Amino acid sequence: MTTVVNQSAPGGAARQAAGLPRLLPAAPEDLRAHLARYGPAPYRNQSGALIADVEASGLTGRGGAGFPVHRKLAAVARAGVRLAHRQQGRTVVVANGAESEPASRKDELLLQLAPNLVLDGLQLTAEAVGAAEAHLYLHYAPGPQILRALAERAARGLDRVAVTITQAPPRFLAGQETAVVNRLGGGPALPTFQPPRVSERGLGGAPTLVQNVETLAHLALIARYGPRWFRAVGTATEPGSMLTTIYRPDGKAHVREAAIGTPLRTLLGDGAEVQAWLVGGYHGTWLPMPDAAGITLDNASLGQFGAAAGAGVLAALPSGRCGLIEVARVTRYLAAESAGQCGPCLNGLPRIAAALAELAGPGHRRQTLTDLKRWSGPRNLVEGRGACNHPDGTVRFVRSALAVFEPEIQRHARGHCSASNHGATDRAPFLPLPPGMPTSEEDWN
Ligand SMILES: Cc1cc2nc3c(=O)[nH]c(=O)nc-3n(C[C@H](O)[C@H](O)[C@H](O)COP(=O)(O)O)c2cc1C
Ligand code: SF4
Repeated sequence: MTTVVNQSAPGGAARQAAGLPRLLPAAPEDLRAHLARYGPAPYRNQSGALIADVEASGLTGRGGAGFPVHRKLAAVARAGVRLAHRQQGRTVVVANGAESEPASRKDELLLQLAPNLVLDGLQLTAEAVGAAEAHLYLHYAPGPQILRALAERAARGLDRVAVTITQAPPRFLAGQETAVVNRLGGGPALPTFQPPRVSERGLGGAPTLVQNVETLAHLALIARYGPRWFRAVGTATEPGSMLTTIYRPDGKAHVREAAIGTPLRTLLGDGAEVQAWLVGGYHGTWLPMPDAAGITLDNASLGQFGAAAGAGVLAALPSGRCGLIEVARVTRYLAAESAGQCGPCLNGLPRIAAALAELAGPGHRRQTLTDLKRWSGPRNLVEGRGACNHPDGTVRFVRSALAVFEPEIQRHARGHCSASNHGATDRAPFLPLPPGMPTSEEDWN
């Protein structure tokens, strides 16, 4: 069960504009409540008109890669104009709600609480890039809130482009943008090599804009309140707020909207009960405590430790847990999730996962650690060699773990483990994996 830490009470746009949260109402808002709070989507009646505001706002994607949104909008709009000249059809927009990262809860919650904000964003981007087709891509069956929102909007004729819902398979790669386009085109949700980028040639060959659902919700607010409003929180170079899914030492998931630049210690806690932070989820980076305690939630600060905020998954691993066991379990999952289409995933990730499993057990061969460091090292067996970012993200997670949990590796080499010092319950998994996934090394057999 996910709790929401900072929901906004009903109170209209002025209150909303004043501070946080911007995106999360206290309870699911139907169309009536949404229109009372925000009014209708502010169409500009001109393709491309919103792009300058989005550029001035500094909005970046909230799906993980943090790419500037205006650049993708402009690329798809430009490609669309070229097609129109050749009378070859129109562009496509996709709201990506796959949330394929197992630890993330923010997109599902946003779609439950504020579906109309996401749908406004989808319609506004459709206008901005001249799209004739809009898709909503979800990893679970669409909930009642989203179905009701679509029906209510259709009844009032609010949407200019019809929205098609497609369900993603519950796989880690299903939310990657080329996998999204493949799935929407009726194929398997597997990534493919780029170029061409989907913004040039995506669904059915049409220039396709894929944006995370949270990105679209921010865009819907920027269209209403403007770039200066958006920049009222955040840092000068990384403006705005972001939804985070936070695991404090109690292991429960909380979704919280945080200003970019917020000290991580206020979100995660940094007391003696915390041994390390994980920032950016399972393609993210482990940060050592207390060395990283002064860091803030922005890529400029996180970058000092080679980390990035990603899709906002933040976890504080408590002292009584074994980081090595957690990392071995998640890496095994990531290796199993790879499509096995490319060399690094086929040959590299299973070996890395097996080596980590050996380190997480009692004692290991010295060669195993040497091999593991080599395989997961920069530009070695895995990095930069796949069709998608999955192998790179996985080795980033592993590399940081090898550095942060070095003392635990030594402890295991001597036949000890932090978790066993603290009673049997501490062996229960801390980092979540999808239901049905093995929870211990023995479960995999
Ligand atoms: C392995 C992998 C999984 C991804 N899963 C998601 C996802 O579930 N949801 C999402 O919005 N983006 C996901 N992304 C990022 C998308 O490829 C894409 O960059 C994003 O949807 C673009 O939206 P944004 O610019 O608004 O963030 C994933 C990327 C990778 C490499
Ligand atoms: S790099 Fe790995 S996950 Fe990505 S497409 Fe290739 S095999 Fe699949």
